[in-house]
Amino acid sequence: MTPRPFLARWASLALAACTMSLSTADSSQAAPAAPLLLTIATASPGPVIHRNVYGQFAEHLGTGIYGGLWVGPDSKIPNTRGWRNDAVAALKALQVPLVRWPGGCFADEYHWRDGIGPRAQRPVRLNKLWGGVEEPNAVGTHEFFDLVELIGAQAYVNGNLGSGTVQEMADWLEYLTSDSRSALAEERRRNGRDKPFPVTHFAVGNEAWGCGGHMSPETYAAQYRQYSTFLRAPNRPKLIASGGNDAQTVWTDVLAREIRFNIDAIAHHYYTFPSGKFHGKGASRGFGEDEWVSTLAHALALGGHIDANLKLLNQADPEKKIAFYIDEWGTWYDDDADFKHRGLLAQHNTQRDALVAALHFHLFHERAERVQMTNIAQMANVLQSMIQTEGERLVLTPTYHAFALYVPFQGATTLPVQLPGVPEVARGAHKVPAVSATAARTADGRLVLGLVNTDPRQAHAVQVALPAGAPARALGQQLVAPALDAENTLAQPEVVRPRPVQAQRRGNTLTLNLPPASVQVFTLEP
Ligand code: AHR
Repeated sequence: MTPRPFLARWASLALAACTMSLSTADSSQAAPAAPLLLTIATASPGPVIHRNVYGQFAEHLGTGIYGGLWVGPDSKIPNTRGWRNDAVAALKALQVPLVRWPGGCFADEYHWRDGIGPRAQRPVRLNKLWGGVEEPNAVGTHEFFDLVELIGAQAYVNGNLGSGTVQEMADWLEYLTSDSRSALAEERRRNGRDKPFPVTHFAVGNEAWGCGGHMSPETYAAQYRQYSTFLRAPNRPKLIASGGNDAQTVWTDVLAREIRFNIDAIAHHYYTFPSGKFHGKGASRGFGEDEWVSTLAHALALGGHIDANLKLLNQADPEKKIAFYIDEWGTWYDDDADFKHRGLLAQHNTQRDALVAALHFHLFHERAERVQMTNIAQMANVLQSMIQTEGERLVLTPTYHAFALYVPFQGATTLPVQLPGVPEVARGAHKVPAVSATAARTADGRLVLGLVNTDPRQAHAVQVALPAGAPARALGQQLVAPALDAENTLAQPEVVRPRPVQAQRRGNTLTLNLPPASVQVFTLEP
């Protein structure tokens, strides 16, 4: 089904009694008559939004690494020691705080020794889960750390529990972290790295309930206890237990009760399918308003799933020592014939994806005390990616732009918001609140406000009550699109891109106009 040209219809609505003074990219846009009142509890700050909430995930899958990020030093595509320069520049500009590697499911098939030493001598293996393709091992430990250092991110390494051994995992950690004269540290030096690699996070397996070994939570907990016992290091990274997914709570419950030490976080996975089902997920574009709303509703359902898990975590760990990470999240659509050449799990990335991302950010901010890291799946070409590449060309997706808008929230302190009377947008069996808001105070004292209008047809306006002495205006960036499934392509790379917006204060209020199907972030400038 072809989406309706909603912006054209919206512009013609010409709603009356508009009190706002927001200049948008399209000055013909009008706001509805009754703005929603937004109150920000500036005197009652909440927890800090950890930067790693905006983390990423890069797996050896399809062209997620090879082609999308790595082209090799001999490529005619401009690169730095093999990493494509355009991707590095885009990810650096995005201030990616952390990257998870090498999987995903691939992590439990990966043997780190295959990826060290001279590249020409590394063994070719089969990536058995992801298409059975040849894995050249050109990207290994040293290359991964070169990438994170190039983009200025922290490193999250996912160890192999499923098909590895305790010794293999313990050796990798020593190779990564030891500054001693041990044989493993010396081997690392011979391979070109004198100082230890700054690995900040390390996971013991992935999805042990599925591709990581089809274990029960009790079996995994026992395995985790054994493996983690031997993950000794002077500057040991945070250790992560791989938990459940979707609405499951049993993994959090069992892991939090049965792993009493050597654990810093439990990781949970959640993918958004338009249909809500893994089989028959829904298309990545060409959807109607019903699937627009069902997708956003399924994205928002993650909030309830996190809460159910946190309830159990709070019982088992009242001192809140164990964080709760969502180390895989994002949209996942039916396989797309258009992108077969890009390899597995490549999909269109549209304005809908930008809204899914922004709504997730809001959920994560609300739960920032325990949700201290998340990783969107994935960074390049795979699933809900930041960048899409074809040969030497690269496109920034709407999701990239959503991440860019929310950069000011990294490390900011949450401020509770109240937004009563938000209408619902209902289509078919699903409904979502028309407007979602989040606010925070940056380290340098600026107030930032993120707003999503989920309504595919209707503009909404939000009136922010400002304390006396508050800034006179808000400057922002707004993501709107000419269609619900608008995307950026090689031929038209700037269909969806942020545009500057601003709003002037009137008395003690600031009125912000939210176009249909939009994402915006405002900063109140002194
Ligand atoms: O991101 C794609 C896959 O989804 C990951 O490899 C796996 O962990 C999850 O099931």
